[in-house]
Amino acid sequence: MNIYITSNISDDDRREKLYEGSIFVHAPSPSALKLCALAQQLIEEAFHPYEPLTVQEKLPVEECARILGILKPKFIHHPKSKEYIQGMLTELGCDLEKTYFDVPRMRTAFPGDYLKSGIAYAFHPHRDTWYSAPFCQINWWMPIYPINSENCMALHPSYWDRPVKNGSSQYNYYKWNLDSRQNAAQHVKADTRIQPRPEEPMELEPQVRLVGDVAGAYQFSAAQMHSTVPNTSPVTRYSIDFRTVHLDDVVNRVGAPNVDSACTGTTMADYLKGTDFSNLPAEAIALYLDGTEIEYAFAAVTKKA
Ligand SMILES: [Fe+2]
Repeated sequence: MNIYITSNISDDDRREKLYEGSIFVHAPSPSALKLCALAQQLIEEAFHPYEPLTVQEKLPVEECARILGILKPKFIHHPKSKEYIQGMLTELGCDLEKTYFDVPRMRTAFPGDYLKSGIAYAFHPHRDTWYSAPFCQINWWMPIYPINSENCMALHPSYWDRPVKNGSSQYNYYKWNLDSRQNAAQHVKADTRIQPRPEEPMELEPQVRLVGDVAGAYQFSAAQMHSTVPNTSPVTRYSIDFRTVHLDDVVNRVGAPNVDSACTGTTMADYLKGTDFSNLPAEAIALYLDGTEIEYAFAAVTKKA
């Protein structure tokens, strides 16, 4: 794995390297700093009068889950969030006419055993491509508050070209949306939702833990194996992640190799154009449809009825 640090290469060259398993680390850009400042403001308002990094020492876990259930969607749908992502993408060399992104998520990783499921799910090792992400998807990740090596995220680069027996064949994106996503805040103690997991023992070493500054983002392919580091530090980690795809790669079906993903459905309809937040052209999305969208569209209608 190559790690490019504050590299100035073009976005076209960068994506090519990401699809080969490289990682890109960026210094905090002005809009990334604004996005993190917005997130900090919302977090501090939500947990007032408690200090966000040690809120787990003050609040019962159910109360914390309730607050996160309001805070996280508020951040995702805040009008400024999309605006700052636009700024950040431009500052980091992406062409907004061809770059599409999904709304940014806020994640938390609490110390010890405090709230590991549902709204604060601690991700086991996985590739996003097990969750119906396309192979041209690029993930962006950055800390909202200072992080350390005990509460960050880990990448497992030895699995880049090494298949793992996994449950992705049981995963369909539309089914997941239908059954599970709305209920995340309810899974306080244990998470019963079916997620694609490794189905054989994994070697999690060697692993790479990137410990960046606040708003210092890094990019990696959706096919990269990654996990939440068990938080053995005394403080909570807050982070932002979002995903992008590039229109040329979507249309030309360019991306990382598939070594072991067998899920159905696609997240392709979720990405918003960098300029005006429109969806990808219907004919581009159609390249990734497999028929399950019809099956679950019927199921959704039946459920509502
Ligand atoms: Fe992930």
